Amino acid sequence: MAASKAKTVRRIAAPVVMPELPQHADAIETLVDLGFGPERFRKTAYRLRDGIDPIAELGLVALLGKQLVGTIRFWEVTLQSGPKTLLLGPLAIHPDRQGQGIGRALMEEGLAKARDTGWQAVILVGDAPYYTRFGFRRDLAQNLTLPGPVDPQRFLGLELSLGALHGVQGLVGRAKT
Ligand SMILES: CC(C)(COP(=O)(O)OP(=O)(O)OC[C@H]1O[C@@H](n2cnc3c(N)ncnc32)[C@H](O)[C@@H]1OP(=O)(O)O)[C@@H](O)C(=O)NCCC(=O)NCCS
Repeated sequence: MAASKAKTVRRIAAPVVMPELPQHADAIETLVDLGFGPERFRKTAYRLRDGIDPIAELGLVALLGKQLVGTIRFWEVTLQSGPKTLLLGPLAIHPDRQGQGIGRALMEEGLAKARDTGWQAVILVGDAPYYTRFGFRRDLAQNLTLPGPVDPQRFLGLELSLGALHGVQGLVGRAKT
């Protein structure tokens, strides 16, 4: 009779998504540096963030034990006679944990929270093949301009409230501080 072999079950811990806290700030900078490098500060999107804090209640992190493996942040921007609008980013996942659904979890929870707290639209500059799966569209941002150069194909919009970006045009401005 064949001896029964004990099966080894390898448990893979799932990250926990939770609101960003002040003590996460340093780990978030390290993670975003890994994903985008220090050159990121030259990007046009940062002209809308310089000296402005992200919306505290919308920031989320993904934690694996004590390690911060994911971050998403949102910033207020202004549109001329436009809807209450957010700039999304950065969204960054640790290189060792990419492709495991953490980005999706952060996007879905962050966008739901934004919708539930009265934000009407979200814009971003990023990889269209990734963000279109969450409903972001090029045409929703095509009449908007940013305060600097950007690849138009990467400048996308999402309506959290139906029709929020319809007919909206002009320069995206910094939040009033
Ligand atoms: C882009 C990023 C946020 C995605 O998060 P993630 O947790 O790795 O992705 P998810 O597990 O939620 O989703 C995986 C899916 O997204 C796709 N995907 C991942 N990055 C992508 C990209 N840059 N462009 C297009 N698709 C992408 C994967 O191919 C996979 O597709 P599938 O579901 O059809 O198999 C993350 O990989 C990251 O931080 N990358 C480094 C920074 C970067 O490249 N940013 C580019 C976007 S601005």
